[in-house]
Amino acid sequence: MSASRTPCVAGNWKLHHGRAQATQLASALAQAPLAPSVEVVVAPVFTCLSAVNDALAPSHRIGLAAQHVHWEDEGAFTGEVGPAHLVDVGCTHGIVGHSERRQHFGDSDERVAKRVRALLQHHLKVILCVGETQQQRASGSYGDVLRQQIRAALAGCAPSAPNPSILVAYEPIWAIGTGLAATPEDAQEAHAIVRNALADTLGAEQAEISPILYGGSVKPENAQALTAQPDVDGALVGGASLRFESFTDIIAAVALNY
Ligand code: 13P
Repeated sequence: MSASRTPCVAGNWKLHHGRAQATQLASALAQAPLAPSVEVVVAPVFTCLSAVNDALAPSHRIGLAAQHVHWEDEGAFTGEVGPAHLVDVGCTHGIVGHSERRQHFGDSDERVAKRVRALLQHHLKVILCVGETQQQRASGSYGDVLRQQIRAALAGCAPSAPNPSILVAYEPIWAIGTGLAATPEDAQEAHAIVRNALADTLGAEQAEISPILYGGSVKPENAQALTAQPDVDGALVGGASLRFESFTDIIAAVALNY
């Protein structure tokens, strides 16, 4: 938490919720009295983006993220969705570099960097995911892993002025979907490494304004303690974002720190 950064809680719905459930959840969120100090974002599957955008409309303040993006606007790229199409359906954000995409769909640092640049060119906010494996944590190489992921994804997009559209999510792979969240102290240590890497890559001013979200088994019970850490500026939530009660409880818990 820091006065120079807007905290953010983003729900990554992954491959869950069809149109009926997605719009129902989005409508409920749009009507809920969510804490105004926290930016709230939801990331449904591609096919639900347009319907969720309509359902969110009454709130005017909940962001809409795609979970993935191709770097080209158009062309012979069967199966891909480009940044212009995301803008077209009302997206405000794009998630890139998620470990599930790196692991199952061959997303390399180089491709992640292209996606980051494409989103920024279309004035979409980037949620860049980084994180180490269990093995990298155990061997102590996680600092190098995080620094390399940040440098590779962002080196080519140094903004001329600090850009509020660059967010990072630290998601240790061993904490995703396991129920074993990082401790607040371990999260803080990793977030400080990420912020230093941001400063080295994009400059101190950018590092100061970029929110760094924690992701990996965030629940209502641990959200406040995690985001009370000085470099933890919110949460990227998977499983607990699928239900209205747990997601809004997380937003309320984070807001207690701001
Ligand atoms: P869980 O909250 O289910 O651990 O998922 C985290 C995640 O991968 C969010 O992007």
